Amino acid sequence: MTIVTETVPSRIKSTDPLHEPRELTAEQREVFRVRAREARLAKIAAASGVGETPLHEVNVPTFDPDELMPQLPSNGITTLSLFSGGGGLDLGFDRAGFVHRGSWEWMSDAAATIRVARPEWDVYGGTELGDVRNVDWRAFRNQIDVVHGGPPCQPFSNAGKQRGAQDPRDMWPEFVRAVRAVRPRAFVAENVAALASATFSDYVEEHILAPLRGAYEIQRVLLQAYEFGVPQVRRRVFFIGFRTKTMAKKWRAPSAKFRRIDDSESNLPAVTGVRKALGLPDIGYDGISPTIRSGLSGPRHTTSILSSVSAQRKFEALNVWPNGVAASREAASAYVTKNGHFRLSVADVALLQGFPETWPFQGATYMQLGQIGNSVVPPVAYAVASSVAEAFK
Ligand SMILES: C[S@@+](CC[C@H](N)C(=O)[O-])C[C@H]1O[C@@H](n2cnc3c(N)ncnc32)[C@H](O)[C@@H]1O
Repeated sequence: MTIVTETVPSRIKSTDPLHEPRELTAEQREVFRVRAREARLAKIAAASGVGETPLHEVNVPTFDPDELMPQLPSNGITTLSLFSGGGGLDLGFDRAGFVHRGSWEWMSDAAATIRVARPEWDVYGGTELGDVRNVDWRAFRNQIDVVHGGPPCQPFSNAGKQRGAQDPRDMWPEFVRAVRAVRPRAFVAENVAALASATFSDYVEEHILAPLRGAYEIQRVLLQAYEFGVPQVRRRVFFIGFRTKTMAKKWRAPSAKFRRIDDSESNLPAVTGVRKALGLPDIGYDGISPTIRSGLSGPRHTTSILSSVSAQRKFEALNVWPNGVAASREAASAYVTKNGHFRLSVADVALLQGFPETWPFQGATYMQLGQIGNSVVPPVAYAVASSVAEAFK
């Protein structure tokens, strides 16, 4: 006998046009609904002063990502940004002195973040104007120096089904189309480290390298966020292509500037730990954050930044609670966690991803966290951008 279990759709509207909501039965959905309702009520009670006495003061961070990426004067090198998200890559290129000419991002809230941060920029957002598939890039032919972007990583991420080219979210062909039409002097594309693994070597050869090889010298580098001063384990691959052999030969991959706190063999300065960065009291232990994941990539929109069970253990050791991230530091301090650990706010998570306090993420809390978790760590983007600028000299 086969048991047919009917799933019911979520009432919450998806904001990512290709979001694949989790298939749940009515009973399963009810469990989530009850849990969400309890959390909402506890949050409201805390905000009105009815909750438990706050365990911690509102924290005052000591970490300023802007110090890792001092603003460089304009280098005159123009850029187009595709799949811009909340602007991590854009910010890194901007601080490295590049001249922004346009960003395309189909999630309206993410595009709004960049627009609010840089009102003078041309930002194309929303499912019509912001969709890179609708753009005729020939209008920019030979007029742009660098095209950069991070096509969605879900088709390749270890956290997903790794369907590669079979995943409707695979936008690499669109990035390649833009580069071939614009013919910039260089391009930079970022993705999850899994794309550099053997699993996807055929994909990379067929869909990225082969169609661009005739026109570009392409190099690949894996970079780790904490090596650039941001307290997080986050390894990402960058494909860097140059139109001329001379530039390609001149390019040097960015080198590490910081070491892990527990690496006693390196002479580099130690990266700041999460607790120190966020201005939390000394508990006799500090370390870096596990990879912050984007809830937008998952089947359920969430305010958790947890990527795995081992990440949970790392947060526990730090006495930091990675779920139910609050909208503000004040709300985080008022809304006491069950295990007495520090509750994160969106601003704290942004810092752990290398965004300065001033970067104005827009949208609901889960949406802001999604933009953060999807982004290139700006100081890493800055290091890559600076290395590319050197090759232009
Ligand atoms: C990995 S994120 C990029 C993050 C960005 N590089 C940063 O540093 O903040 C990929 C982005 O591509 C966007 N996207 C996916 N398909 C798109 C399309 N067809 N047109 C425009 N944006 C798209 C997603 O909404 C998501 O924000």
